[in-house]
Amino acid sequence: MNKLFLFLSCCIFTANTYAQSIVSETEIGESESAVSPKLIAIIPEPVSLMKKAGTFTLPENVSIQASKSADLKQSIEFLSQRITTATGKSVSTPVSVTHPTIKLILNTHEDAQLGLEGYKLNVNPTQIVITANKPAGIFWGVQSLIQLFPAEIESKELVANVKWKAPCVDVIDYPKLGWRGLMFDVARHFFTKQEVKQFIDDMVRYKFNLLHLHLADDEGWRIEIKGLPKLTELGAWSVKKVGTFGDFIPPTADEPRTYGGFYTQEDIKELVQYAKERFVNILPEIDVPGHSLAIIASYPELSCTPDAVNYKVRSGEKIMDWSRGAPPLALVDNTLCPANEKVYVFLDSVLTQVAKLFPFEYIHMGGDEAPHNFWEKNEQIKALMQREGLKTMPQVQAYFEKRVEQIVISKGKKFMGWDEILEGGVSPTAAVMSWRGMKYGIQAANDKHNVVMSPTDFAYLDYMQADVITEPKVYASLRLNKAYQFNPIPASANAKYIIGGQANLWTEQIFNFRQVQYMVWPRAFAISESVWSPIEKKNWTNFVERTEEQFKRLDLAEVKYSPAIYDPIISVKRSPDKQLMIELTPEIDGLEIYYSFDNSTPDRFYPKYTSALVPPKDASMLRIITYKGKQPIGRLISLPITDLQKRAR
Ligand code: ACM
Repeated sequence: MNKLFLFLSCCIFTANTYAQSIVSETEIGESESAVSPKLIAIIPEPVSLMKKAGTFTLPENVSIQASKSADLKQSIEFLSQRITTATGKSVSTPVSVTHPTIKLILNTHEDAQLGLEGYKLNVNPTQIVITANKPAGIFWGVQSLIQLFPAEIESKELVANVKWKAPCVDVIDYPKLGWRGLMFDVARHFFTKQEVKQFIDDMVRYKFNLLHLHLADDEGWRIEIKGLPKLTELGAWSVKKVGTFGDFIPPTADEPRTYGGFYTQEDIKELVQYAKERFVNILPEIDVPGHSLAIIASYPELSCTPDAVNYKVRSGEKIMDWSRGAPPLALVDNTLCPANEKVYVFLDSVLTQVAKLFPFEYIHMGGDEAPHNFWEKNEQIKALMQREGLKTMPQVQAYFEKRVEQIVISKGKKFMGWDEILEGGVSPTAAVMSWRGMKYGIQAANDKHNVVMSPTDFAYLDYMQADVITEPKVYASLRLNKAYQFNPIPASANAKYIIGGQANLWTEQIFNFRQVQYMVWPRAFAISESVWSPIEKKNWTNFVERTEEQFKRLDLAEVKYSPAIYDPIISVKRSPDKQLMIELTPEIDGLEIYYSFDNSTPDRFYPKYTSALVPPKDASMLRIITYKGKQPIGRLISLPITDLQKRAR
């Protein structure tokens, strides 16, 4: 009792202006939650969160009152659906009621601090109030509110024996950046309209507001364009293969090309509307002049290479030689021909329709990794260079980018490209998405280009997040703790021009939607906090605690995520006398690792890892497992010693 009194007193008088605290049930009020203790674990961390005395309990009949209910329809529906599904309580929206359970209020006088997406959330013992300037702010406030209730609120079915309490708090919150994106590559592998909707549902929990759809690449063209039927008759289909993408045996002519798909224009309209109702914009990307094999396979006349008439959409076989670095050497010419006027006519048709379908102000035109080796030997390109006074291949590409930008502008849109567009002379109005690290973004922002930061170092969700033995192999790794260090507005950049930050999910090695989710979460928690929360609020230890709470929510929401934080980082080295030494480093605190070399499955009664291991002479396998206290929490990882020997080479 005294402890409770002391705790509540502290809450009343101490504004929690740093990270949220994780407090036990007994401290904050009893809960019969079957699964989770009562925690405040909002992601992304709000700008300001003050705990107050007491808790709010959802009554049997919940009334939601909205100041302008038509504008707040989405928030009301979202909240009602969460509450009724998980709790079984009734939700009504009476026009006049003296003391509604939940009040959603749009400010009549703008609160400058909140901007377009900020909100205030007050949870009091008998009422919840969310205020904002705009409907988007109310919607993000609702996301925070949901995270204050027990994790079971995320359940897809009715959950019994939960006290539906939320701690009393005052939250003031608004985002650092107006563009908080996730890129979803639906070209390498096609994902259905329903899966894209699920992707949107997953992202809005963490206040992402931009979905970048990568709609065209060597492996598929994914959007119906009227008047260009071959794009979807031929360009959307490859041969189904599974295994390690990139190394597939080239398909034979008789193998059926039935793997893939595309979105009809009606599908796109439905997705745009679905996203809009959740305050998400969709940025379409048509990646040219490289990554264009699906276009070339459909319309070979858009290539500089006569042999393109024989080209087919890529099914994961090798088409590039990366051995000398970027840009790669193309083994087949996957580029549009900058010297061919038909290319600009084609792009005009495509962009006329894309611009109408997507209301968002930008269109992303790719520009990355365009190989130049076929251009170098092409007579049309040589003639273009002479005519336009172009000296180098990057200048040829820059000529192309400028012409494409003019088409984009003629459709009433703004042009964006990957940071390669900076090479060879960039147009002053082009916006840049910086992916090859932060440096191009910094340079572009300082040169007054609008910039979205999405650097490989921190924000590439296709990279492995755990040891290679547990995941599809990708050429690089990105652990959660590195993703959490993402700072989209570095001190050396002109902050005024950094309009956003985002993470990118390329899907070469992702063959199904469960793996999409596994790759996105929890690293997108780290990205969401990096693009929403003030940098001073970021705190790794506290973030990990909140991440673990969010895992319970994702379990209940049936969203897959990676448990890689519970597996150690495995590294190898050689001792001075050339012995193999295996180091196991937990990514987070509070874990213990147990191991075996005798091929049996270790548990917590096995040897505990304390320092680098030298395998016994005849051992062929190291098996490891991580525990938190008495609970196994990491995955059982089996590492052949021969494999570790190779890593040490
Ligand atoms: C990219 O990752 N090639 C933009």
